Amino acid sequence: MHRTLDVPDLAATEAFGRRLGELLFPGAVVALVGPLGAGKTHLVRAVAEGLGVKNPAAVTSPTFVLIQEYPARLPVYHFDAYRLSGPREFAELGADEYFAGDGVCLVEWADKVEVTLPAEHLRITITVVDESRRRFNLAALGARYEAVVRNMGRGSGPGADAPSGGSRPEPPEGAGSA
Ligand SMILES: Nc1ncnc2c1ncn2[C@@H]1O[C@H](COP(=O)(O)OP(=O)(O)O)[C@@H](O)[C@H]1O
Ligand SMILES: [Mg+2]
Repeated sequence: MHRTLDVPDLAATEAFGRRLGELLFPGAVVALVGPLGAGKTHLVRAVAEGLGVKNPAAVTSPTFVLIQEYPARLPVYHFDAYRLSGPREFAELGADEYFAGDGVCLVEWADKVEVTLPAEHLRITITVVDESRRRFNLAALGARYEAVVRNMGRGSGPGADAPSGGSRPEPPEGAGSA
């Protein structure tokens, strides 16, 4: 299941991230793809906030430590593959064990470690449209992630309806698209 969102500004990224954090489940894996400055780290911070991290300001790019962990409703594991030589090094860090655990894994530069990711995950590809505007391409791989994406625009919470501009409604379940 794919969905494209028009994200007009940083506040919309933050609202989206907080809502996503509310919806994620134990063992969830979120792959973030996009160039430097796309907003991957800001998005992770908002997701962590949605998961109830006490001090979201402490969520920064883990470029130099590769993995950061934050306690929250579910433990948050924040990876940055930017400086990794490749999937093998990522695997040697124990990525599999994190993915198989009960926390939420968020992976910046996920395209660099593609083959180590579990088959089922949520992929968010960020395109920079202009200084503040982004496009999020969401690919929900697996039924649990499809449910999350379907619920992104629903329910309560500040991010429930934002960002809404530009999102395409999904056909009802079973309508035929894989
Ligand atoms: N809509 C937006 N979403 C996310 N970041 C944005 C947005 N608009 C502007 N920005 C800016 O872009 C930069 C994104 O930085 P960061 O999250 O560290 O990117 P990345 O981790 O992808 O390299 C920040 O300076 C942020 O203020
Ligand atoms: Mg970053």
